[in-house]
Amino acid sequence: PTPLVVAVDGPSGSGKSSVSRAVARDLGLAYLDTGAMYRAATWWCLDQGLPLTDTAAVADAVRALPLVMGVDPDDPTVVVGGTDVTAAIRETAISAAVSAVATNLDARAELGRLQRAAIKAEREPGGFSQGRGIVAEGRDITTVVAPDADVRVLLTASEEARLSRRALDVHGTADASAVEATRDQVLRRDADDSTVVQFHTAADGVVTIDSSHLGFDETVEAVLAVVSAAT
Ligand code: C5P
Repeated sequence: PTPLVVAVDGPSGSGKSSVSRAVARDLGLAYLDTGAMYRAATWWCLDQGLPLTDTAAVADAVRALPLVMGVDPDDPTVVVGGTDVTAAIRETAISAAVSAVATNLDARAELGRLQRAAIKAEREPGGFSQGRGIVAEGRDITTVVAPDADVRVLLTASEEARLSRRALDVHGTADASAVEATRDQVLRRDADDSTVVQFHTAADGVVTIDSSHLGFDETVEAVLAVVSAAT
């Protein structure tokens, strides 16, 4: 079969990771969580005690990043220098620090290069998907990393929906105090990220799916419908 590349972008709490994983599973494709790559790079810098404000040192560290990204949608394990960091990169300390790496343009260039290589590997026999292709998700996949993807989707959701989903993820509840506890972090991170990547409006040729009023399965179906229409 001809390889299929599906690019999904969106802000935090849009559901893009879980939706992209489900789409990859459904279509038998590999799955690349590029946010996890920024998180892994941040973990690596902090593990070495680097001040993230030292942009040259961070760029050097990212160029030497010994990263292995799992691309199985059923097991997207992230390993850095032999350490399984899959859980550690979800901790609040990483979420709070990751924008410092994401706004480092040299680090972005390097991670973008790794992302293009991972996507290319799945277009060829020998990759995880055996050449069937990949779903890659993040903030700049539809625009910078894979603007030539076969399918490009921007997954959005209202601020209210995004905050309550993230509160549910992190605190196990979406009551008022959990939402408040998430608000600063999510909105501040999106605001910081927005200074270098544009993921709030769809670029030309990118299909917007607003999941504010869709359940998880409905959102997956909506993405699969865009894939069907394009192939
Ligand atoms: O998707 P997730 O919230 O895990 O992404 C973590 C961070 O990685 C984002 O806040 C952003 O700073 C960065 N990121 C990025 N470009 C991407 C994916 C993620 O800058 N393509």
